[in-house]
Amino acid sequence: MKVLIIGSGGRESTLAWKISQSDKVKKIFMAPGNAGNDHIAERVNIGATNIEKLKEFAKEQKIDITIVGPEAPLVLGITDVFEKEGLPVFGPSQKAAQLEGSKAFSKKILLDNGIPTADGAIFDNYENALAHIHTIRRPVVIKADGLAAGKGVILADTEREAIEALKRIMEQKEFGDAGNTVIIEEQLKGYEVSILAICSGTDFKLLVPSQDHKPIFDGNKGPNTGGMGAYSPVSMFPDEDMEDVIKIIKKTLTSLKTQGITYKGILYVGLMITETGPKVLEFNVRFGDPETQAVLPRMTSDLIDPIEAVAKGEGLKDVHIEWTDKACVAVVAASAGYPGSYKKGYTINGIDEARKDDDCFCFTAGCEKLDNDIVTSGGRVLAVSSLGANFDIAREKAYNALTKIKFTDIYYRKDIGIVYK
Ligand code: AMP
Ligand code: GLY
Repeated sequence: MKVLIIGSGGRESTLAWKISQSDKVKKIFMAPGNAGNDHIAERVNIGATNIEKLKEFAKEQKIDITIVGPEAPLVLGITDVFEKEGLPVFGPSQKAAQLEGSKAFSKKILLDNGIPTADGAIFDNYENALAHIHTIRRPVVIKADGLAAGKGVILADTEREAIEALKRIMEQKEFGDAGNTVIIEEQLKGYEVSILAICSGTDFKLLVPSQDHKPIFDGNKGPNTGGMGAYSPVSMFPDEDMEDVIKIIKKTLTSLKTQGITYKGILYVGLMITETGPKVLEFNVRFGDPETQAVLPRMTSDLIDPIEAVAKGEGLKDVHIEWTDKACVAVVAASAGYPGSYKKGYTINGIDEARKDDDCFCFTAGCEKLDNDIVTSGGRVLAVSSLGANFDIAREKAYNALTKIKFTDIYYRKDIGIVYK
């Protein structure tokens, strides 16, 4: 089977690594990919949102399955375009991808179906939103409706901060048209968990829970990033809460179905586990990054089986997904300065060294080739993931493997896997 993976980050490197272990997969292409996977995949110089070119490539190469990594091509409708050509693809349709592409769309699904979420309201008019803020006397969260690279969510503890946030999003258009509509919702307290489900219509299989560390500095301080590390399992997340999450996923998929939308691909449910149970913070329509780097190393069964079933529009009842009990910790190594500005072009040494232990993996992201070297080319440069019999062992192995990675300006959090409540 020939597989095309779209995207270039750590998530896509992890997907390539995992499916390269399948006997069924004979060839992997990555578009555009990054420089750290040349031993398992062939890079194709087409950007992730260049849907027409990707389609031509998939047709020419007779690709059996295309796996879409990032949200942007999904929101642009890559699945619809591929399916029209008869090309099997793993990822939701443009309509279904609104779950991530429009926070107002997903909030409406949550509120209309009584799915546990923060109390909130949707506004497409600045004056009405402002009037609403004046009436609430508690901390809120203001969210730009559209895609804003994870930055369009502002937590405001006071009325003044809420007004400031609203101005930035709706008046100053800090996130462009993504801020034409906003969601204003209550701030929830608790701890966050990410649940990924592989979905084929209303049929789905859960992947193991994980937790992401979004802030740049230790102790969860500083601005949010795409994610500085992740771990799985989440020991404090109780099984009874998982029952609630299953209900959440069922209701979401069924509600989409009643709107004529068949959901195919990964549904990422971002949850706050509150004193009154799990509540949905957000939906994403693809694998999480860096959650994938902590989840897939724990999967002991073949990932291509559920992916193939979904891409072909089949159910999942005959697909079995198996996991190791081992813990996995994934630590992201970034370029100092990220998520602000940072320098690029530094040689990275030690990737092969870090990969030597069977339980250690190096999933590259912001890396490119320069002559014979792999050099830094992005904020999040790579992640080192390690499996261990327990958390302490997994953490120690990951940090130990990370000492082998050398590049100028390397920065990573020292506390990935530590639980902050
Ligand atoms: P989102 O993109 O909606 O998941 O928001 C990004 C991050 O903002 C989440 O991972 C949470 O850390 C935080 N957040 C979003 N909504 C809320 C909320 N209602 N209460 C508290 N924190 C939130
Ligand atoms: N790690 C958060 C995300 O993938 O959106």
